[in-house]
Amino acid sequence: MADKITFSIIKADIGSLCGHHVVHPDLIEVARRKLKEAKDGNKIVDFYVTNCGDDLELIITHRKGEDSEEVHSLAWDTFCEATKKSKELKLYGAGQDLLADTFSGNVKGMGPGVAELEFEERPSDPVIAIMMDKTEPGAFNLPLFRVFADPFCTAGLIIDKSLHSGFIFEVMDVKEHRLVRLNTPEEMYDLLALIGTPGRYVIKKIVRKDGLPAAACSTSRLSLIAGKYVGKDDPCAVVRAQSGLPAVGEVLEGFAFPHIVAGWMRGSHHGPMMPVSVKNAKCTRFDGPPRVIALGFQLANGRLIGPADLFDDPAFDTVRLKAAEIADYMRRHGPFEPSRLGPEELEYTTLPEVLSKLEERFEKL
Ligand code: 13P
Ligand code: 13P
Ligand code: MG
Ligand code: MG
Repeated sequence: MADKITFSIIKADIGSLCGHHVVHPDLIEVARRKLKEAKDGNKIVDFYVTNCGDDLELIITHRKGEDSEEVHSLAWDTFCEATKKSKELKLYGAGQDLLADTFSGNVKGMGPGVAELEFEERPSDPVIAIMMDKTEPGAFNLPLFRVFADPFCTAGLIIDKSLHSGFIFEVMDVKEHRLVRLNTPEEMYDLLALIGTPGRYVIKKIVRKDGLPAAACSTSRLSLIAGKYVGKDDPCAVVRAQSGLPAVGEVLEGFAFPHIVAGWMRGSHHGPMMPVSVKNAKCTRFDGPPRVIALGFQLANGRLIGPADLFDDPAFDTVRLKAAEIADYMRRHGPFEPSRLGPEELEYTTLPEVLSKLEERFEKL
């Protein structure tokens, strides 16, 4: 529908400065130039380019709807052009997330992560782009459950009648490629039975009971596309706030606990999620610990006003300190589970090669 706005975050890791650390500024420049051309040509309404660690994040508003071939193709071309620069600079993992040679209509399944939400812009519409590095899409399950279904996080679920009837969660089974819709609060236990396994069941979308679109997450699992470990599908999400939705502070409150996620070093370890400002979205220690950033925008007829760097606040210092303590604790387990991921998750990494070498040395008992 022409009058609706679509808020898209399309991201890819196409190489970074010094291992898997940060996106080089030259790649951000390439992306800005490409998206500015598209904006000047009225193909998109507005854009903002940023990075969460080594992931290049294209935030785009447009009126072409979700899964628009034109917008996805713009993002794909942008990543391809930035990859040229990345190769020229011999950045690490240049072109890592571009799993196909040519664009085939939609970037989903081709490597990049996508979170898109189409909606009618409200008189004032705060939208938050939340982006993570060194983890997988299921890392959003716990915080988004808390934001949209846990009254101990979101006071509005109890005291605001427009939220009181609850939300519908669309959950994707990324292994079987199927989807289920569950209503909260009624089916909260069923929902938790699924999303408590974040490597398989991933929140894809959240809508208010009356159909108002509230949030969308990226769900791609690169290893399931590529059949091997090629980076950890670092996810992103679009979350709308206020006026009948959780307040911005209620959304952020969902991230005030450094929960344990899969990812970190070689995508093969459990570690705490640390909420940080954009400038601190730099995974250093053991390539981590995993980070999450949140950029808040106001929409003005699709124009992106802002952003506000929402975790750039001393109120989150204790969360960060706790995450650093948990990182210490987890690291002391070295190569032992549950610090290292279990065998099912490591199936796509380089571990099976190591194990297969030992196969012939086993004696039958
Ligand atoms: P390489 O050093 O072989 O790339 O493996 C480590 C790593 O960072 C995996 O992405
Ligand atoms: P990314 O998924 O962020 O590229 O990290 C890969 C990795 O192996 C880190 O150790
Ligand atoms: Mg990387
Ligand atoms: Mg990354």
